[in-house]
Amino acid sequence: MSLPFPSLNMRAFVPFLLVLGSAISSSFGGTCTGPPAGAVIVKPNTNVTGEFSDLGAAVNSLPVDDTSQVVFVYPGVYTGQVNISRSGPVTIMGYTRDSLDFAQNTVSLVHNASLATSASDDLTGTLRVLSNNVSLYNLDIRNDFGVALTNGQAIALSNQGDQVGVYACRLFSYQDTLYTNVGNHVYLKSYIEGAVDFIFGRHSIAYFEGNTIASKGAGCVTASGRELNDTGIYVFNENKIIAAPDAFPNVTNNVFLGRPWGDWARVVFKNTDITAPLNKTIWSIWNVGDPNTEFVFLAEYNSSGPGVEHAHRPNFSTVLTPEEAAQYTLLSAIPNYRDWVDAEYLLPEF
Ligand SMILES: *[C@@H]1O[C@H](CO)[C@@H](O)[C@H](O)[C@H]1NC(C)=O
Ligand SMILES: *[C@@H]1O[C@H](CO)[C@@H](O)[C@H](O)[C@H]1NC(C)=O
Ligand SMILES: *[C@@H]1O[C@H](CO)[C@@H](O)[C@H](O)[C@H]1NC(C)=O
Ligand SMILES: *[C@@H]1O[C@H](CO)[C@@H](O)[C@H](O)[C@H]1NC(C)=O
Ligand SMILES: *[C@@H]1O[C@H](CO)[C@@H](O)[C@H](O)[C@H]1NC(C)=O
Ligand SMILES: *[C@@H]1O[C@H](CO)[C@@H](O)[C@H](O)[C@H]1NC(C)=O
Ligand SMILES: *[C@@H]1O[C@H](CO)[C@@H](O)[C@H](O)[C@H]1NC(C)=O
Ligand SMILES: *[C@@H]1O[C@H](CO)[C@@H](O)[C@H](O)[C@H]1NC(C)=O
Ligand SMILES: *[C@@H]1O[C@H](CO)[C@@H](O)[C@H](O)[C@H]1NC(C)=O
Repeated sequence: MSLPFPSLNMRAFVPFLLVLGSAISSSFGGTCTGPPAGAVIVKPNTNVTGEFSDLGAAVNSLPVDDTSQVVFVYPGVYTGQVNISRSGPVTIMGYTRDSLDFAQNTVSLVHNASLATSASDDLTGTLRVLSNNVSLYNLDIRNDFGVALTNGQAIALSNQGDQVGVYACRLFSYQDTLYTNVGNHVYLKSYIEGAVDFIFGRHSIAYFEGNTIASKGAGCVTASGRELNDTGIYVFNENKIIAAPDAFPNVTNNVFLGRPWGDWARVVFKNTDITAPLNKTIWSIWNVGDPNTEFVFLAEYNSSGPGVEHAHRPNFSTVLTPEEAAQYTLLSAIPNYRDWVDAEYLLPEF
């Protein structure tokens, strides 16, 4: 169905209000099955003038100015790389009957590229966020390249923007799924799948809450590339780490919470429910002969589940006290989060 205005579709208005800086604290929930007024519409095989059948073409059609723009995407599989680079805020929302549940997503964006055929890792990205104030809702973003022994880097989402929110999205790849590199980012109630270094980047402040993180095979969940004592940090609170439904057998005993790509790597996992069968050392060095552990802060608080049952952590990792853990919150990581984060996707504080 195609309604000119959303019916009982309050969620669709949230991004408009957020970019105006309104304080939104109540929960709207529900469906998102029609475009908000003024949205650019993307629909498979559309023949309606002004609509797009290609998501990249729709994004490229947005005015290059500071206005806020919304792209509404009807169910379908869309192929090709998409770059977001205009200066004004952009919201992309996928059709869904339950905006809080990634399992009900109906929109997929698919691309297949790896470092073997691209000039840089970033350029392999299926969706590349190159500007600020971007919000993504209910989108499945895949890089279907798969596995390779060398040059297997294949990014689903490359995030180089400030104030970027990822809400109930699913990101799929094997190596380097999520490049969370520059800016302040939140990833909320989403699904992130991969095997090798699949949440990585250099400088960003990234907050993850209520996500399911799925390991497909041997490798590290995070690879923080922090190279000096800058503000960069990855804070995880109340996420689940599982073995992906179609994980390779080598997922057992060969998954680690992270390894330091940079020797100031900084990653905090709080209140994580871990069923993926982690290697008992939990954290890994970068490489034999190049451990990169000198200045790292690789920390946990209240990890639970069978995945950490026989843990024997290395001396370069940290287990936080409750008082120390309390210092790593969304507010401490991103003090202005109330100005731009969609609070509907935050878990109630406990
Ligand atoms: C557009 O598609 C609809 C249904 O898919 C069809 O009824 C209509 O005739 C088409 N219009 C044009 C201009 O092709
Ligand atoms: C995205 O940006 C890259 C690098 O500038 C370019 O090669 C590619 O064609 C762009 N893709 C689209 C769909 O515009
Ligand atoms: C966009 O992001 C920039 C950088 O974070 C910020 O200063 C600006 O206020 C934002 N603009 C809007 C309209 O949200
Ligand atoms: C992706 O592209 C590679 C070549 O670069 C090809 O070998 C592979 O089969 C493709 N995978 C899919 C799922 O299309
Ligand atoms: C894990 O298993 C997959 C599938 O057999 C294989 O492609 C990959 O190279 C393995 N990873 C490691 C680190 O051995
Ligand atoms: C890193 O920078 C912070 C903030 O500027 C400072 O408080 C801290 O002491 C520095 N850490 C090291 C090890 O230099
Ligand atoms: C844990 O990882 C280390 C380092 O990769 C490896 O040598 C060891 O065999 C793994 N543990 C198990 C039980 O497989
Ligand atoms: C530990 O984490 C779990 C979620 O994995 C949470 O339900 C529980 O309240 C946390 N306990 C403490 C003491 O924070
Ligand atoms: C940490 O452990 C490694 C390997 O087990 C050991 O070589 C090193 O001396 C230890 N470092 C400290 C500071 O205890």
